[in-house]
Amino acid sequence: MEASRRDFMQYVVGAFGAVAAVGAAYPILKSLGPNAAAALQSKVDYDVSQLKPMDVRVTSWKGFPVFVMMLPTPFNWNGPERNNKYKNHNRDILGNHNVYAIIGKCTHLGCIPLWKPDGDSAMNPSNVPVFHCPCHGSIYTPWGDNISGPAPLPLGIPPQALNGNTLEIGTPGFVKKFWDPYT
Ligand code: FES
Repeated sequence: MEASRRDFMQYVVGAFGAVAAVGAAYPILKSLGPNAAAALQSKVDYDVSQLKPMDVRVTSWKGFPVFVMMLPTPFNWNGPERNNKYKNHNRDILGNHNVYAIIGKCTHLGCIPLWKPDGDSAMNPSNVPVFHCPCHGSIYTPWGDNISGPAPLPLGIPPQALNGNTLEIGTPGFVKKFWDPYT
């Protein structure tokens, strides 16, 4: 009887010890996880009601610069399409959507490309709207497909949904998964 009571007390002490250990470890484990600010950025709602056709706005998602685009409908693209193994990759992913978000980070060495809605002299024909990376001259279509210069891949595309006038960046919708050229 004595022995079993002693066993019971050992269990109780052991259980309290385990709870205390978990309690002590929790703040350490929590500090290793993504912080609240980063978690907040994993979904970004962007109001597109003020955008006009050919507008591009910049926001950020998960630490990436993001271009929020609005193209006219219909939009006729007269420029070259693409010169890598992902032929028309971004254009295919984005389909017929005229409001969308793409990652604004050049796939060459990471600069932020500039939006040139009236074209760029580096292009022929030069009046085709493009993104032009100022660092080493890479050029991308409005969908982010790379068409000239040293950039090896299209721009990334975050998962996204359009809900009324809100572009929900980070929410699976008409783009379901993050197209990440870096992985
Ligand atoms: S970083 Fe954009 S072309 Fe080099």
